[in-house]
Amino acid sequence: MAKPLVPIIVKLGGSVVTYKDTLFKPNISVIDRLVKEILKANIESLIVVHGAGSYGHPVAMEYKINDGYKSPDQLIGFSKTRQAMMALNKIIIDAFIEQKLPAVSVQPSAFIVTDKGRIEGFDTTIIRKLLNLKMIPILYGDAVVDKTAGFSILSGDQIINKLAVTLRAEKIIFGIDIDGLFTDDPKRNPDAKFVEKITFEELQALFDKIGIADTIDVTGGMYGKISELIYILEKWDKAVIKIINAKQKNRLFNALIDETIICTEIRRR
Ligand code: IPE
Repeated sequence: MAKPLVPIIVKLGGSVVTYKDTLFKPNISVIDRLVKEILKANIESLIVVHGAGSYGHPVAMEYKINDGYKSPDQLIGFSKTRQAMMALNKIIIDAFIEQKLPAVSVQPSAFIVTDKGRIEGFDTTIIRKLLNLKMIPILYGDAVVDKTAGFSILSGDQIINKLAVTLRAEKIIFGIDIDGLFTDDPKRNPDAKFVEKITFEELQALFDKIGIADTIDVTGGMYGKISELIYILEKWDKAVIKIINAKQKNRLFNALIDETIICTEIRRR
């Protein structure tokens, strides 16, 4: 039997696919361009995970979904968060279908349970099957059922962590709205230095410094992303993670075909 293809995993951050400051506003031109870059790169096996941006985050924040179940008033917020994410997911999948790319939605909350916010079981049967069929599974950060807390918010980053480790992915591309990692928040500190390459240990040392949480981000902003990246490299040492600015033309395309680009590359050693 032929060896299963190892998928490339791409995260399209919420700040890339939506206008973060305007409720429920997708960035259609960026979504369309990124899908065209994926088409052009002609990847054999690909999984895309997208974030929430101005869809999931503001709703989840309003109803304190990430705090777990505290009162019945939150229930409608749980529904609304899921609905918002499905709406964004549809827009993104439509863009793939428009380019005749066979993308399919895989709803995380329909197969993932968390316990205190961390993924418990993770059955990749459907995802593997879709990949074997040469389809593109598209997942997203979602509002999920939690064993202890009742419900919680599951970030796309934690899903990527689990996918990367379980499927032994060697290339993980994180698309965000800045060029990569900095020694501090470049939006607030002009002296922040860009990090081109970094190892697992160096990243851990930097970890405490990058405590940036966007005000409407319920999953911890850059801080949350970095911690999830660390967990990937802790468990799976062949992973190479590239953090790229997906808002810049052709960065995703070049990252997919291994061209040199401005980005932060993270390896185990
Ligand atoms: C958050 O997912 C999911 C919800 C708030 C429902 P992410 O944490 O992956 O989203 P972004 O990329 O930061 O927007």
